[in-house]
Amino acid sequence: MIERVEQEIQRLVKEVGYEKAYELFEKLSGGKRLRARLIEKISGENEKSALLAAIVELIHAASLLHDDVIDDAELRRGKPSVNATEGSKVAVMLGDILYSKAFSELVEFDKTIAKTISSSVTALSVGEMLDVELAKSFNADEKKYMHMLYLKTATLIEAAAACAAMLSGKESKRYALFGKNLGLSFQIIDDILDITADEKTLGKPAMNDFTEGKVTLPYIYLFESLDDEAKAKLIKLHGKKLEPHEVEWIKTQMEKHGSIAKAYRYAQTLSEEAKKAVEDEAELVAILDKMLQRSY
Ligand code: FPP
Ligand code: MG
Repeated sequence: MIERVEQEIQRLVKEVGYEKAYELFEKLSGGKRLRARLIEKISGENEKSALLAAIVELIHAASLLHDDVIDDAELRRGKPSVNATEGSKVAVMLGDILYSKAFSELVEFDKTIAKTISSSVTALSVGEMLDVELAKSFNADEKKYMHMLYLKTATLIEAAAACAAMLSGKESKRYALFGKNLGLSFQIIDDILDITADEKTLGKPAMNDFTEGKVTLPYIYLFESLDDEAKAKLIKLHGKKLEPHEVEWIKTQMEKHGSIAKAYRYAQTLSEEAKKAVEDEAELVAILDKMLQRSY
């Protein structure tokens, strides 16, 4: 099924009419195509859903190109990032090409769909700014963190699911709720994997979030469980390249206080909420379960 979307993505990027952009895009590895899969599962496999899925994947790819520049990331999906090999300027411009092409294709859809997707991209961009802002100091506020996650990751998935429902005459509100909770759950799993998985599996450096200044959910939960002395120690490690014994200390403390398990339980709860919203539609539940069990 996803073949059709891949073809559609290629068609759109070729249509840009600039060989260099196409070549660079070809070098990006596709990723999990979570958003495209959701759209096709909700809306069925047809021309319109393939175009919508391709649009959303192009927006997502553009956002990652820009995000890697913002995060100074060297690796993406196990390969050197575009900013690492071609420089930040090229990465930004390729992102611009992809997302403006995606936007120009949105006019093929009715106004509500175009508005829903484009507004989610504004939210995503605000989320990215909040993420950068929050990373400047040690943020232990779970609410602020979850709000940022919602904007940065969940809004595009929420919009994609809602629009896929609109395309096929399904009740968009329920699918929006499904997408939102799946998106939040997905990002929490991502945060956990940053701590528990290795670089080879992740395709990007492990334990990198905290070094980048990102105090993700397991760190927030850990902070809440620590005594004042240990709290101060954790704050000191924030935003710096960690030594192996410091990584060990964090991991041991997280184990001791069950911080990862607590974050995982929260991801599970959100995932249950997502399931309820779609009344246990088997194929969507399968995507959720796979997402919860993923190791990369
Ligand atoms: C990855 O977060 C980043 C996002 C999900 C969104 C980034 C959004 C923008 C840069 C806004 C610009 C949007 C467009 C369409 C140009 P992460 O850094 O936590 O994840 P990572 O570890 O995979 O990098
Ligand atoms: Mg990043």
